Amino acid sequence: MRTQAPLDAATVESLLTAAVAAPSIHNTQPWRFRLDPGSQALEVRSAPERTLPLSDPMHRAQYLSVGAAVFNVRLAAVHQGWRPEVRLLPDPREPGLLATVRLTGRLGADDQPSDPGLYEAIARRHTSRMPFTGRPVPEPIVAEMTAAACAAGARLHVPHRAGTRRLLRVTAAAEARNHAHPERTAETRTWITAPGADTGYGIPITALGPPDAAARMPVRDFTGALPALRLPALWFERHVQVALLWTSHDRREDWLRAGQALQYVLLTATAHGLRTSLLHQAMEWPDLRAATALPGHKRCHPHILIRFGYGPDGGRTPRAPGHCAVRPAAPPATATETS
Ligand SMILES: Cc1cc2nc3c(=O)[nH]c(=O)nc-3n(C[C@H](O)[C@H](O)[C@H](O)COP(=O)(O)O)c2cc1C
Repeated sequence: MRTQAPLDAATVESLLTAAVAAPSIHNTQPWRFRLDPGSQALEVRSAPERTLPLSDPMHRAQYLSVGAAVFNVRLAAVHQGWRPEVRLLPDPREPGLLATVRLTGRLGADDQPSDPGLYEAIARRHTSRMPFTGRPVPEPIVAEMTAAACAAGARLHVPHRAGTRRLLRVTAAAEARNHAHPERTAETRTWITAPGADTGYGIPITALGPPDAAARMPVRDFTGALPALRLPALWFERHVQVALLWTSHDRREDWLRAGQALQYVLLTATAHGLRTSLLHQAMEWPDLRAATALPGHKRCHPHILIRFGYGPDGGRTPRAPGHCAVRPAAPPATATETS
């Protein structure tokens, strides 16, 4: 079935602007977009040149990032008055095609309106690696974040203090292993950029955070062998609030679902004035990833730790313009892809 009218350039641009605002591991932005001129579906592919062979050999973090971008496309489509239909891994013959988003028609008066606060949160969400105030997040907000993860096909576990300490301990162990692994450190370091660098990818030094003076919070050290770039240590919140995002299967489509859930949770938090940051180090070592799973839960496949709370905003990271080369309604022979 086709949409009622070909997508116009402004609509496509708004979908792609939302897509590329998504978080991605090391800001690799591992996605490519193409508008299929026939079906008017936005095709989302992985970008094989922007992977992390050592820390993400299975591409799970890449799928999480792409899933987050797909969630933003859905929100932007609804914001523009369209009904989006998302298909994950739609073509077994083309494993690099991770998702399609087809706009099946205009939203009607009876359609459930989506929360406009979520769409607005897309541009306001930034990773904040600074210390938070430690003010507890009210339970109803945590419940909304948990419900958001469920609605997107994943689960969010928000542990009490002992559980939080356990997850941070495992993350600290992963951080120590990363530190002792020169090749991994070098891989991470290649995605750190100098202020004003002429690139749309990677994390500017200005968006990094300080280490925790109390060594309770295992923030990722992106500077590796260049300690001169490290900020002076600061005191982080004493009672860290984290949530573990997990799914009950561990297939490629689950990784994409987890990515959508991740973004749903982050935007829900942002809409409530929270700051968030991500701790993925433990997921990069199979035994430590397993150690973050809920004890006694056989089908808990962890994906990422989300730290949340009140505090300062994060520094800005750049984006490569995702919209330039997609030609709405272009004839098949000239349809182009963009990164
Ligand atoms: C799968 C995934 C893993 C991430 N892991 C970490 C991490 O371990 N430490 C960290 O500080 N940020 C992590 N991030 C956040 C990215 O560095 C961040 O999204 C990217 O630099 C873009 O910045 P923004 O979130 O402010 O838009 C991760 C993001 C994703 C999607």
